[in-house]
Amino acid sequence: MKINSSRLWDMVHELAGFTIPGKPWTRRSFSPIYNEGRQWLMKEMKACGLEVKMDAAANVIGRLEGKNPALPPIIIGSHTDTVTDGGRFDGIAGVLAGLEVARTLHDHSFQLDRPLEIVDFTAEEPSEYGLSTVGSRAWSGNLSEEMLTYTNTEGQTLGEAIAFAGGKPDEIAACLKKQRDIYLYLELHIEQGPVLLHEQADLGIVTGIVGIQRYKIIVDGKPNHAGTTPMHLRNDALAAASQMILALEEVASRTYEESVVGTAGVIANYPNGSNVVPGKVEFLLEIRSTSEKAIDEVSESFIKKAQNIASQRAVHVAHEDISRSQAITIDKDIQSLLHKAGSKVTDRLLELPSGAGHDANQMSLLAPVGMLFIPCKDGRSHCPEEWADQQDLAKGAQTLLNTVLEVGKPSK
Ligand code: GLV
Ligand code: MN
Ligand code: MN
Repeated sequence: MKINSSRLWDMVHELAGFTIPGKPWTRRSFSPIYNEGRQWLMKEMKACGLEVKMDAAANVIGRLEGKNPALPPIIIGSHTDTVTDGGRFDGIAGVLAGLEVARTLHDHSFQLDRPLEIVDFTAEEPSEYGLSTVGSRAWSGNLSEEMLTYTNTEGQTLGEAIAFAGGKPDEIAACLKKQRDIYLYLELHIEQGPVLLHEQADLGIVTGIVGIQRYKIIVDGKPNHAGTTPMHLRNDALAAASQMILALEEVASRTYEESVVGTAGVIANYPNGSNVVPGKVEFLLEIRSTSEKAIDEVSESFIKKAQNIASQRAVHVAHEDISRSQAITIDKDIQSLLHKAGSKVTDRLLELPSGAGHDANQMSLLAPVGMLFIPCKDGRSHCPEEWADQQDLAKGAQTLLNTVLEVGKPSK
């Protein structure tokens, strides 16, 4: 059985076309264009013979019934939101490759032993509310009541945003899954880095995924007149925050048992005037590694350094824990399963870890997970230039189909 490469390619470009005009390719979670893209997706899912529903966390789920509907399903998932000015493949390649798998089975009137569900998880990217992997967190039990009260800059809560996306924030608990509810979770994604390209491989078998610690840092200084306040009498929150960001860079660049990256972003400066000494700065930062220990070491060193900088500069610093996702190692048996399925489409396979976070992190708390990477042009992602090759996407989708047929074939 073969997937239809051009049909999949057309779907990717049609969904990518749901973007903020003049700002390609932007489809932020909880925005009107995100909802429009998902309406299109639900229509496509129905046309592919899937039964479609949206759960309380606004996850979109399309189900292809199995011979035995009571068996736990195989799930293929990813996301359809993007970062601002993001790409045409991050997230949607995985959802639509899953949909192409389901459509191929449906076209052949082939019924698996167990159900197959294709899931577009809500808000995988860091949302305007600070939190990422919102939908898959609802399934794994990592979407707390407190998180639903996180606000965007307009003071709207994450709970309200979920309702805007069509979910039911008061019923999030109903999304919680148990260990035996899912048989296997699969996700295809563009690599978002240069390794496959560099090694001339056209399919990646993911061995593990980084964990991510995110903090909000709040620096309180003293706003004052920029012309009259001498340099040595300032309590400049932005100068202090800048020094803290450089400290993060220094601490994350040290050597740990596994490599670490640390990044600051979303910087808000108050009152943000060119003639006012900055009085308050808030910024987000994240620390990633496949080693939990390394993440903790960098966190501790950074917080100590930030406190020292604050006391030297006579400002106050506080940090709020936004989220933590655990680093995961992918089971060797699942890697072998994907390897066997992928060997039928290419002999240029490579095993590699993922430096990007994925819904698979949350799903690993519920089920065995497997992840496939396809190469991306120039190793670039989270930018408008992000691009993947049609043939590579087809090979990835065919590997998904081969895997699903292997694990879900009806017993005679
Ligand atoms: C998801 O794109 C991430 O931030 O790794
Ligand atoms: Mn992304
Ligand atoms: Mn992604």
